[in-house]
Amino acid sequence: MSLKPAIKPERPWFSSGPTAKRPGWSVQALESAPVGRSNRSKATVGRLRQALELTREILGIPAEYQVFFTPGSDTGAFEAAMWNLLGPRKVQLLAFESFGQLWANDATEHLKLDAEVLSASYGQLPDLSRIDPQADLVFPWNGTTSGVRVPNSDFINGHQGLVLCDATSAAFSMNLPWEKLDVITFSFQKALGGEAGIGALILSPKAVERLNSYDSGRPIPKVLRLKKKGEADMAILGGDAINTFSFLIIEDYLDALRWGAREGGLEALVARSEANAEALFQWVEKTPWIDFVAEVPETRSTTSVCLKFVAPEIQAQPSEVQAKLAAKVGSLLDIEGVAYDVTGYRAAPPGLRIWCGSTVETDDIEALLPWLEWGYAEAVAALKADGTITG
Ligand SMILES: Cc1ncc(COP(=O)(O)O)c(C=O)c1O
Repeated sequence: MSLKPAIKPERPWFSSGPTAKRPGWSVQALESAPVGRSNRSKATVGRLRQALELTREILGIPAEYQVFFTPGSDTGAFEAAMWNLLGPRKVQLLAFESFGQLWANDATEHLKLDAEVLSASYGQLPDLSRIDPQADLVFPWNGTTSGVRVPNSDFINGHQGLVLCDATSAAFSMNLPWEKLDVITFSFQKALGGEAGIGALILSPKAVERLNSYDSGRPIPKVLRLKKKGEADMAILGGDAINTFSFLIIEDYLDALRWGAREGGLEALVARSEANAEALFQWVEKTPWIDFVAEVPETRSTTSVCLKFVAPEIQAQPSEVQAKLAAKVGSLLDIEGVAYDVTGYRAAPPGLRIWCGSTVETDDIEALLPWLEWGYAEAVAALKADGTITG
C-alpha cells in the first residue's frame, strides 16, 4: 500500500464533458431563470439575446458573423451545418479521433457526398499538406478523445471552399482564427462547464451566401433546418430559437459567461487553461510511466489532455489489460473523491484523460498529481495481486 497524499483537489471535476462548472457555482446561479414562461416572452427572449451577445463579446466573433443556438448540443449544431451547407463542392474531412470520424461517416454514409477522408491514428494528425483550398473542409479544432489539436491555422490558406470547424473542446480555452473559419460550433456542456442540450452555431458571410445560393434538395428535419423558402432563415440565424429551449440551461450558460467576463474575458480564460495544461505537462515530462497520446508536442491539447501508460511492463500487456488498469486508476480516484471521470475514452489508447479547460483551477491540477501517482501504484499492485498483470 502506498501512502495517500495529504491534500485533495478541492474540486475533483476533471471530466472532458460535461466539464467542471465554473469555480463557485451552485444551483443558486439558476434562481432567476425565467422558468414557466413562454419562449416568446420578453423575459426568455431577453435572456437568449444576452447569452448571444455575451458569447459574441467574449469570443471576439466578427460583427458580420451570425451567432445562434441550436437544439442537440454540438452534434445538433454541427450536423445542421453539414446537412444545410455541404454538397456543391468536394469535401475533405480530417478524421484523427472519434468525432472527426463521426462527421466523416455522416458525409460518406448518410449524406453520400463527394468526400475525401484524411485519416490519422490516435496521437497523430492527417497530412495537412493534402488539404485542397478548392474543397470544403470539415475538422475538429481539438480532438477531445485523442488529445491532439491542430497546432495553428497555417493549413487554411485562401480557402475557396467553406471551412467547417467543430470547436467544442476548444472554444473559450483556445484562440480561434475566426476570419479563416466559416462554420464554428461548440456545446454549452464543454465550453464553460454548461449543461448539455444546446449548441452554438456561428456562420461567416460566406456560409450564409452558400445557404442562399445552394439547395441540396435533401430533406432536412426542422431541428436542423437553417433555410426558409429556399433562402437562409435570417430569423433563426439572427438568434430566434429553432424550437423550445430550456431556460434553465440558458440561465446556467449566462452565469458561466458572466463568470468568464469577470475573469477577464477570452485572454484570461485561455491563460487559465494553458496554466492548467502546463502544470500537468510538467508532471508528465518527469514521470517515467506516463506519456502523451499526442506524438508531436505542438499538437498537444491544452484542454483534453490524453495520456497513455508507457512503463515497459505495462506496454507488454495486451490492450484489454491496459484498459483495465486505466479503469482501475479512474475508479480508485473516484472512490477517494479526488478525481472524477479521468479514465480515457474507450476507443482511444488505454490511459487517462484530464480536462484542463478554463473552468478548472490550477491548484486542483497540482493537487491531483500526487494522487495520480498513488492511483497508478495502487492499481498496478491490485492487478498484479489478482493475476491480471502477469510477467
Ligand atoms: C469534438 C467534439 N465534437 C462533438 C462532440 C459532441 O458533443 P455533444 O454531445 O455536446 O453534441 C464532442 C463531445 O465530447 C466533442 O468532443
